[in-house]
Amino acid sequence: MKRFFIALPLFAILALACNTSTLFATPTPEPTPTPVPVGADLSIPLPPGDPTRGELLFNGPFACAACHGVFEGQVTTCPNLFGLSARAATRVSGYPAEMYLREAIVSPNAYVVEGYTEGVMPQNFAETMSAQQLADVLAFLMTK
Ligand code: HEC
Repeated sequence: MKRFFIALPLFAILALACNTSTLFATPTPEPTPTPVPVGADLSIPLPPGDPTRGELLFNGPFACAACHGVFEGQVTTCPNLFGLSARAATRVSGYPAEMYLREAIVSPNAYVVEGYTEGVMPQNFAETMSAQQLADVLAFLMTK
């Protein structure tokens, strides 16, 4: 009987120790790594883009959709990007569609769309987008 009374508190202490050790073992979440900005150099190769991710970025974090429509007939204060994948190659001589679109995003003042004002499009996407994010947004625009 005496042994039982000694064993019980000992067991309680051990159980407590086990619990606190699992508490301490709770993994702290990894901080989200800051993406390396893609920059404005058009000659740096981009990874393959994903149009579905690009659409999410377009509508969400980069808020392109706040200014641009992407559906036929959508009227917004900024150029409608519907059908742009076909028009893009005619904008700047020597620029294939994707190159024009890339420049329009990272250096918006390099070519200002007729009828629109320079400096309205955010000027800092080259600093806020990673190469993967730019590739994804481009892949999405190429479906339009
Ligand atoms: C505050 C409003 C605004 C936001 C936000 C914005 N843009 Fe623009 N964008 C404009 C305006 C205004 C123009 C036309 C003037 C110019 O060429 O800079 C333009 C031009 C463009 C063009 C060239 C269109 C053409 O017909 O040649 C592309 C491509 C483009 N934007 C893509 C984007 C993408 C992608 C995003 C998000 C990453 C974005 N824009 C965010 C206002 C905006």
